[in-house]
Amino acid sequence: MEDNNEIRYAPGLTAKAILGELQGQGKEYMEMMSRFSSAMLEIETKFKVLNIEFSSKFDRNPIETIKTRLKRPASIYEKMRRIGVPLTVANIERELSDVAGVRVICSFVDDIYKLADMLAVQDDLYVLRTKDYIKHPKESGYRSLHMIVEVPIFLSNEKRYVRVEVQLRTIAMDFWASLEHKLRYKKDIPEKTACEIANALRECADTACRTDLEMNEIRKRIEASGFTPGIEA
Ligand code: GTP
Ligand code: MG
Repeated sequence: MEDNNEIRYAPGLTAKAILGELQGQGKEYMEMMSRFSSAMLEIETKFKVLNIEFSSKFDRNPIETIKTRLKRPASIYEKMRRIGVPLTVANIERELSDVAGVRVICSFVDDIYKLADMLAVQDDLYVLRTKDYIKHPKESGYRSLHMIVEVPIFLSNEKRYVRVEVQLRTIAMDFWASLEHKLRYKKDIPEKTACEIANALRECADTACRTDLEMNEIRKRIEASGFTPGIEA
């Protein structure tokens, strides 16, 4: 979902240039983006509702923050070029699953799986794909739970299913991913140094992961002793 990197591959590409490339599909493009925007809002609301219910049940909030973003025109353009598909509105809608993105930052690792399950059982929505980069971290050290979901949106005269990419992560995973993303694209580093840096970043991710698991255990111990974290006496 980090978009800035993709922009760099396509310098100078503006929304106007892409709309030009879409040759007369400007209106359709704007309509498509408003569908993605609506689907994103639906998913954000679903997580907000879950957060409210969870806090009344368990006396604490599992969600720290929710961030949403629409893929920028330059990123859409670049990805379509990368996968070798002509740039049309229909192709964008068919090929890309990450135009609408919702990132849910959770307090504890357990909360990620609880929220993912709570979302998955909702009967108006389909989970098309799940990638568990927590159980299976990326080579870089990246951890998060990714889901591609399809949610219905109700328009004036039709119902459309729209895909949204959901990324669930803890504060520690988000902290690491944000900083690693900023550091990753510094160019002109000799290969040996780049390799050492990659190893150092992976170490940081592993340290953050250990801390996450320890915090999770501490929370469980507090709960087992009859107290509720987050509720003041
Ligand atoms: P994209 O074409 O980049 O969307 O790849 P993909 O469709 O294979 O999806 P993937 O499961 O790799 O997840 C893509 C998104 O996860 C990225 O846009 C980032 O937000 C995030 N991500 C994946 N790997 C990393 C990583 O190593 N570091 C950081 N900071 N973010 C990552
Ligand atoms: Mg992506």
